[in-house]
Amino acid sequence: MMTKKGLRLVDHDEEGVNNAFRADVLEGLSQEQKAIPARWLYDDAGSQLFEDITQLPEYYPTRAETEILTDRAGEFADLIGRGRAVVEFGSGSSVKTPLLLKAIKPAAYVPLDISGDFLRAAAADLATKFPGLPVYPVEADFMRTVELPKEIADLPKLGFFPGSTIGNMVARTAVDLLRNMRETLGTGAQLLIGMDLIKDEEVLVAAYDDAAGVTAEFNYNLVRRINRELDGDIPLDALNHEARWVDDFARIEMHLVASRDIGFTVCGEDFSMRAGDTIHTENSHKFDRRTANTLLLAGGWEPQTRWLDGKARFSLILAEARPPRSAP
Ligand code: AVI
Repeated sequence: MMTKKGLRLVDHDEEGVNNAFRADVLEGLSQEQKAIPARWLYDDAGSQLFEDITQLPEYYPTRAETEILTDRAGEFADLIGRGRAVVEFGSGSSVKTPLLLKAIKPAAYVPLDISGDFLRAAAADLATKFPGLPVYPVEADFMRTVELPKEIADLPKLGFFPGSTIGNMVARTAVDLLRNMRETLGTGAQLLIGMDLIKDEEVLVAAYDDAAGVTAEFNYNLVRRINRELDGDIPLDALNHEARWVDDFARIEMHLVASRDIGFTVCGEDFSMRAGDTIHTENSHKFDRRTANTLLLAGGWEPQTRWLDGKARFSLILAEARPPRSAP
């Protein structure tokens, strides 16, 4: 792992293979229930497919969250106020971030992302849209605590984590992230976080298994990536995309289901699947008011205000890092 001072954060071997990707895939495929961390869905093709997903008629979260950011701008301005440093976890959306910045008129904008290329592109785009706003991109893994630029040391902070990306983490990881965000931003900071809501199973499953098959392509792209980057020969024609609602954990799971018995090799290691076996590729947790609040509190954030879109499909929550105090 290298540092931000002109060096890359991603570690490759002498043949250019991403070491963490190889380790995660080989370990995940060796398990009884095969599973690969969802972050590997997002190579260039995967990131483009995710952008396409956000435009699908079935995929409501992006539109619902954008609606809240548009319609409630005045309330954000009142509750958050002007002059904060907005620290966005992820390199920012070209639609949502400007809506927030327009509403609250911050003193600085700090996008954090592990991918320097995305980060620089997003920062440049923002700087054009908001001339005069100081933008300090930081290339960092936001899952850990991050050292913020000294230029914003004295400014009050607002963390921004839209999209319900928190829902892609199991509870333990989500709590670790929220705690690290608190550590990064400090006591007194606010956090504006998107959390998708529990709703009818058919609506949820359709959002992750759309009629045009774009989400299926997003899932298959992971197999293409493994075959290309890790010298694999996984037969894609024997895997089907499935989105299933798992009620006990209030989450949509994405799987690749084998339609027949198969054997394949990745990085010289042999694997097999029986018909019906799956590779679990993503969780997308959904929340209600109580589970959202509990998660935030576990991560050290006190929920302040919660907004929903007009059809009550998605929530945006403002929380605060209050000083520790005794409680019963
Ligand atoms: C990025 N994340 C919040 C998306 C979600 O809804 O969980 C990823 C996604 N996977 C399939 N469709 C969208």
